[in-house]
Amino acid sequence: MPVHNPSTTDLINSLPKAELHLHIEGTLEPELMMALAAKHQVNLPYATIDDVRVAYNFDNLQSFLDLYYLGASVLRDEDDFYHLMWNYLCKCREDNVVHVEMMFDPQTHTERGIDFAVFMSGFSRAMTQAEKEWGQSSLLIMSFLRHLSEDSAFETLAAAAPYLSVITAVGLDSSELGNPPEKFARVFAKAKELGLMRVAHAGEEGPPEYIWSALHDLDVHRIDHGVRSVEDPTLMQELVSRQMPLTVCPLSNIKLCVFDHMSEHNLLTLLDHGVMVTVNADDPSYFGGYLNDNYHALAAHLSINEQQVKILASNSFKASFLSDEQKNYWLQQILAY
Ligand code: HPA
Ligand code: ZN
Repeated sequence: MPVHNPSTTDLINSLPKAELHLHIEGTLEPELMMALAAKHQVNLPYATIDDVRVAYNFDNLQSFLDLYYLGASVLRDEDDFYHLMWNYLCKCREDNVVHVEMMFDPQTHTERGIDFAVFMSGFSRAMTQAEKEWGQSSLLIMSFLRHLSEDSAFETLAAAAPYLSVITAVGLDSSELGNPPEKFARVFAKAKELGLMRVAHAGEEGPPEYIWSALHDLDVHRIDHGVRSVEDPTLMQELVSRQMPLTVCPLSNIKLCVFDHMSEHNLLTLLDHGVMVTVNADDPSYFGGYLNDNYHALAAHLSINEQQVKILASNSFKASFLSDEQKNYWLQQILAY
């Protein structure tokens, strides 16, 4: 593995960063998965924790999603959701991720008969505790599963009504191909009416047309992934002129075979064209690394330099849903490095 400059390593670890593309269900580590499977007597097709790690070899998005939904099936009671969130927020503290905007997938749980009250209480308890203990800043993005129907998304939005004061945005995830953003145009219009911000996965496996659709039909504030935008020069110009953030997830893209190798990742091409690129972990337990690991992989294989690390960290705040005052505070902190 190529070696990168040790001072870049230190900079990555010590800079304050925001994380904007993170699925809380994707932070379920094999240890917690096996412990909860034993607690609730869930039969998983793994005998040991090592078996779980061996299974994490994916050919594409769908092969990952199949295991991701299987893993999530061990999350049953309030305490399970609390521990899932707590473990991740402790990792944020360790990585200097001072602010995080996390996706959660209600339908993954409501479809199994687990009510909003159960997971929202567990999430909120951990978020409040982390805020109190070390000032961790965090907010929630409620994501709709795009392989399910528009009706199911509308039902989910209605069920979320009592919790809208602690939900900042809606998102769109799961199987992209065959489920274009326009399928959810009316749901996103309703979410906008309710005062929610909007993000959507587009251009991970899907073509540039899906990114156009997310912009036009869903009126999004950010595109999750969006790496296939490089195939359409007009789209690239549009992203640059709008300064539309892309939440890119390098290790995820390698694990799901979007690129063959990190040295072939197009993050620097996007950055050099002036796209508002950010770095994120997506589903760190499944993809082999948390936020700092993603930055380190870019340093090792794309030789990103200290200036680029600072630009990416700054972009993570600029592209966030923080207030201008909070953004400026963190941007000033980065300038001091
Ligand atoms: N893409 C789509 N859906 C997802 C992902 C992803 O990377 N992670 C969790 N759900
Ligand atoms: Zn994602």
